[in-house]
Amino acid sequence: MYREDFPLPDVTYLDSACMSLRPEKVIEKVNRYYREYPGCSGRSSHSISQKASKELEQARRKVANFIDASRGELMFTSGTTEGINTVARGLDVERVFLTEREHNSNRAVWQELGVETVNMEGLDTDFLESELREGDLLSVLHVSNLDGKVFDVEEACRIADEQGAYSLIDAAQSIPHRPFSVQSIEPDFVAFSGHKMLGPSGTGGLYVAKKVQEDLSPLKYGGGAVENSSFSGNERKSFPQGFEPGLKNIAGFTGLGAAVEYLEDIGMEKIQRHEEKLTDEIVRGLEEADVKVFCEGPGIVSVAFNSVTHGEAAQYLDRRDIKVRAGRHCVHPWFNDRNFDGTVRASLHLYNTEEDVEKFVKEVRKLSRL
Ligand SMILES: Cc1ncc(COP(=O)(O)O)c(C=O)c1O
Repeated sequence: MYREDFPLPDVTYLDSACMSLRPEKVIEKVNRYYREYPGCSGRSSHSISQKASKELEQARRKVANFIDASRGELMFTSGTTEGINTVARGLDVERVFLTEREHNSNRAVWQELGVETVNMEGLDTDFLESELREGDLLSVLHVSNLDGKVFDVEEACRIADEQGAYSLIDAAQSIPHRPFSVQSIEPDFVAFSGHKMLGPSGTGGLYVAKKVQEDLSPLKYGGGAVENSSFSGNERKSFPQGFEPGLKNIAGFTGLGAAVEYLEDIGMEKIQRHEEKLTDEIVRGLEEADVKVFCEGPGIVSVAFNSVTHGEAAQYLDRRDIKVRAGRHCVHPWFNDRNFDGTVRASLHLYNTEEDVEKFVKEVRKLSRL
């Protein structure tokens, strides 16, 4: 689907959970910043700088609309990791509730900060109702980067809210692939990555609901985020500008705005259906193969081989121009707990084709017979 919009040599790219490809439209938008209005946003008053400010705020509006939020509820970040770190370091919480599938980006920071973690297999509503209390944070992923498992974050956020706890969704693997609305899920925070949703590298966003903005402190302080300052203190701007000091990644964020436009033009339901279909084809194609398949939802299929290691398998596939990721996919505890050392992961996006799937299935079958 739409493969011709994406400039890449003729390879089977199956690593979109790590980073997606970008369409020409996004690349053009990034270039346009450097060619046409390469100024400081939000600082100087000349026309080039004003154009940069205008484009940046338009991008913010587009990205916020894309998740059903308002412009005043979205700060730009370098990705999901920075979003989660912003909450971890800027919100006062007693305990954090995590699932066993959390990415290291939603685990390491809590461990480093010494916040008590409650580790859960999944989102058991009875457990959440009885255990969550005021001062806690439910911080969970929406879709697993390991096997595509989808968690019912809507119900979980509702319970967190009822219990007086905060909620944070790691939407790194959901916002790029399915319709997502903060108005129906009603979380307090949502972190996501632009480079997994056809946007430039090092871009992302953190949604912060109006009602919790006052509870959060910024991760960084500095110029552009300050209304006024004296030798003894400063008056910080409100969210989001007060949380985005220093010169912003204007090229990247305007590119992210273009990515969102591109996704909207196609339609997220259509993208989701396309990925569901291709995922089913991979799973069916591997039914008879001597491999273990981990797939609990659309878009991501992890495969463990008996015949070769995951590293050897990925190298073999790479030599045949099939790009996958091998290893523990930053979910080390899940693997360590089960005493095995990793999988080969195929992850899809809208540009993947039936040919990609056929090629992957054919080579995995061959490998399993080695
Ligand atoms: C579920 C999940 N959370 C967080 C991250 C970290 O995202 P980033 O590296 O863009 O900060 C990833 C990246 O793979 C992910 O899959």
